[in-house]
Amino acid sequence: SAPKKLLILPGDGIGPEIMREARRIMDWMAQARGIRFDISEDLVGGASLAVHGQPITQQVIDAARAADAVLFGSVGDPKWASAGFDRRPEIAILKLRQELGLFANLRPAKVFDSLVDASTLKPDVIRGLDIMIVRETVGGIYFGTPRGIETLPDGSRRGINTEVYTTAEIERVARVAFDLARKRDNRVCSVEKCNVMESGLLWKEVVTALHDREYKDVELSHMLADNCAMQMVRNPRQFDVIVTGNLFGDLLSDLASMLTGSLGMLPSATLGAKGEDGRTPALYEPIHGSAPDIAGQGKANPLAQILSFAMLLRYSFDMQEDAAMIEKAVSNVLDRGLRTPDIMSAGRTEVNTAGMGEAVVAELDRLNKAA
Ligand code: NAD
Ligand code: IPM
Ligand code: MN
Repeated sequence: SAPKKLLILPGDGIGPEIMREARRIMDWMAQARGIRFDISEDLVGGASLAVHGQPITQQVIDAARAADAVLFGSVGDPKWASAGFDRRPEIAILKLRQELGLFANLRPAKVFDSLVDASTLKPDVIRGLDIMIVRETVGGIYFGTPRGIETLPDGSRRGINTEVYTTAEIERVARVAFDLARKRDNRVCSVEKCNVMESGLLWKEVVTALHDREYKDVELSHMLADNCAMQMVRNPRQFDVIVTGNLFGDLLSDLASMLTGSLGMLPSATLGAKGEDGRTPALYEPIHGSAPDIAGQGKANPLAQILSFAMLLRYSFDMQEDAAMIEKAVSNVLDRGLRTPDIMSAGRTEVNTAGMGEAVVAELDRLNKAA
């Protein structure tokens, strides 16, 4: 069969540093397992602004649409802080999600056994944690209108954003959550603020109706978003799948990452609707950003990027065995005590970004030869 078309978009800050390590894994797969990818790479974010004067070009959007899957790094660079709101690097990822219709952002938070002591929470609270946050990513307050900054007659100004969700938008993301739950612990917790927001009220009604119509076998619960944030720290293992809107999902997933030890550990997959050609548009990225505070210092943890590549193999290419092998290699490297600074603790061995990538490849090689 034709080689799989992969578009790689490293972006800004630590993006290119961690993407280099993901590419190391791809190169190893080509050499050791004969898996051929047709890889192209392009600019997004500040890197694109510097060359093209815009955070993402039409050419990159078209290439993303034509690819079988996109592996994204991160965008955002304080250098562009004064470039204006419509020329900020972050537009790149927002536009990709919109243009490709990537509405379901899967953010798994899983604790590796040997990282139980890297979390700021007590080991007993997080050991064995395995939750999946399904975040809606093309609607809600991120994209609703009216929006903008207005000047009032008295000269003062107001900033406006609007939370909007339609029945169809809620239903399609809830469906993803219910389907995932069936393959996991069969429980979905739907999170909104129906006590304050009409969009939350509709969210709850639509999720409930879909459940009662088609997913009665799945256990559904509802939680207000503020309580959910608290429950996630109090007793995170009560959750299996969480489904929520764009903004709440953004916040709750960063929160969930610290349960696993570091923001540098969490991968994600963002999926769209299956097209007429049978393909599902998909983009894979760490949940963290460009980390300007540590960029260029070799300190970034590449595991979220590497695990995002594993998700890509799993969801877009149905390469379950290869994905599992990468996850196993990561787990073994952590078991051996190798740590980037973000997950470092006493008695472990500190490595830099490249050191971690090299260790994962060495472990893959060992696993492959043993198999
Ligand atoms: P951030 O996620 O970049 O960083 C938050 C903190 O976590 C920082 O202290 C950083 O050093 C640390 N961190 C993040 N990733 C890490 C890794 N792999 N290894 C070790 N430590 C890591 O969030 P921020 O500082 O609020 O935002 C920085 C920029 O990134 C902003 O411009 C923001 O808009 C952008 N951003 C982009 C994306 C994306 O591209 N999808 C996601 C989030 C933030
Ligand atoms: C994320 C990021 C983005 C978001 C930003 C960079 C637009 O925080 O992917 O989590 O808010 O969705
Ligand atoms: Mn975020």
